Amino acid sequence: MESGLSRDTQLDARMRGKRILFIGVNDDSKDFILDMIVRLGFEVYAVGTRPQYQMVNKVQKYVEYDSNDKSKEAHHSEVIVKRVNEEIGDVDGCICLWDPEIPLAALVTARLGKPGISYTGALAAMSKAQTMEALTSSDLGNGRRNSNNVGVVKYASRCFTIESAADVKKCVEKIGLPAILKTEFGAGGMGVKLVHSLQEAVDHFNHIQVLHDEHKDRSYILGATYKRSCVLMEYVEGSEHCVDLALFHGEVVCAFVCDKGPQIPPDVFRTVITMPSLLPKDKLKSVITAAIDCCKALGFDHGVFDVEIMLTKSGPKLIEINPRVGGFCLRDFILQCYNVDLVHLACLIACDINPHVSVPEGGEKSAGVPSQLPFRHAEIVISESDVKPGPSCSMVGMYIYAWRHRKALKTTATPEILERLHDNGDLFFIRHEFQMREYDHEIPFCTVAVKAESFGKARDKMIDICQRIGLETDDVSLEELLDYFMCGHLV
Ligand SMILES: Nc1ncnc2c1ncn2[C@@H]1O[C@H](COP(=O)(O)OP(=O)(O)O)[C@@H](O)[C@H]1O
Ligand SMILES: [Mg+2]
Repeated sequence: MESGLSRDTQLDARMRGKRILFIGVNDDSKDFILDMIVRLGFEVYAVGTRPQYQMVNKVQKYVEYDSNDKSKEAHHSEVIVKRVNEEIGDVDGCICLWDPEIPLAALVTARLGKPGISYTGALAAMSKAQTMEALTSSDLGNGRRNSNNVGVVKYASRCFTIESAADVKKCVEKIGLPAILKTEFGAGGMGVKLVHSLQEAVDHFNHIQVLHDEHKDRSYILGATYKRSCVLMEYVEGSEHCVDLALFHGEVVCAFVCDKGPQIPPDVFRTVITMPSLLPKDKLKSVITAAIDCCKALGFDHGVFDVEIMLTKSGPKLIEINPRVGGFCLRDFILQCYNVDLVHLACLIACDINPHVSVPEGGEKSAGVPSQLPFRHAEIVISESDVKPGPSCSMVGMYIYAWRHRKALKTTATPEILERLHDNGDLFFIRHEFQMREYDHEIPFCTVAVKAESFGKARDKMIDICQRIGLETDDVSLEELLDYFMCGHLV
């Protein structure tokens, strides 16, 4: 996945010469991020499975290693650390943005003695069933107790693993219907469906097995890098919000919230998105608090996290936690609204550099003043009791799919046209995929977004530009999708 936004990354003196290990360069979709990290001033070293690594001239050293057998992660981490010590030497921190390698990266990071997340936590976040279990159980295995889960049970929903068609019936009996059936380890929202009957659930489980065969070359999207299992999860009704937050040794550095538009059942896929959140302050705070508490319940206290929360009539509920910078357009939206680059932040934190506490010349430590940040206005610095949203603009975006917006993408809104409009400043063309995949319910090809001084103005601008370039769909109008944000649908 690449991004269409050009980013003028500012050099940060504290990073220059820092040696960062970028783990999991297994696919070209994250190459633009590696490029950015190099431009930030880091010395970048990379570990990955790709034999032909295009970025090899950008990195100081590339360690090619086949880590595909997930049953041997402890062994892989031992070998990688040995090779890093022999071939690279000391590094200052490790970073991983490639989901299937996040647990391995956690092991490598710990073995190198660098701060990060635990392997147990990374595994729990990978599995959508284990994430829920971490909120409800105080047993972390190996006789260890989780004291962090007190108070977070309220954010959990019932969710059980399905390994075979025979499991579907047992899970339906435990959860009831309708329910959400989705892959256990997948990403990008592919294969998520609201099922209303046992037959529909069995059919969808079988359909996902077919998708696994059809998409063998992209097994990470459906989670098959780990296992082909699915989960059945209680259907959580409410408004959806992503909270992207940074923690530094347990301290909250910042948190950014966006609102997601309505789902269009039965196939649940992303529609529209806006930032900053339009939630009233008390609800915003409850969503941020839930995200922080859920991270801590999984033992996460250092790094950047992307937490998906559904705000229901009975309060916030967790959908999932990604222990990395949020995907698709989130990083770009945060960059536009708050001038904070979460990749930059993640690198600082990985190298144990506190991006939050500054020490003015001859002065004392002042937490919360981001004066030494390379960012111009990172206002949303929150403490547990204080939420201060300080966006400089409103962003509104629509996820564009090759299967849903097929006609426009081939005629009036081709990538070349979108690129031109982006260069003219008419819209943001945030590209997520190199290829246009027309299979039903594929992940979005891109996000088209606009920026304005208020949500209302961004809404009007978005509708206008989408009408002009024919980016419309037959099922629901863009007006209807965007008005969801304003008409009290946000619980
Ligand atoms: N239990 C649920 N109830 C309602 N909607 C859900 C539920 N689980 C997932 N979804 C919807 O599907 C989307 C993708 O699911 P998620 O678990 O985040 O998978 P992925 O890792 O593919 O992003 C969510 O953003 C949400 O809109
Ligand atoms: Mg998700």
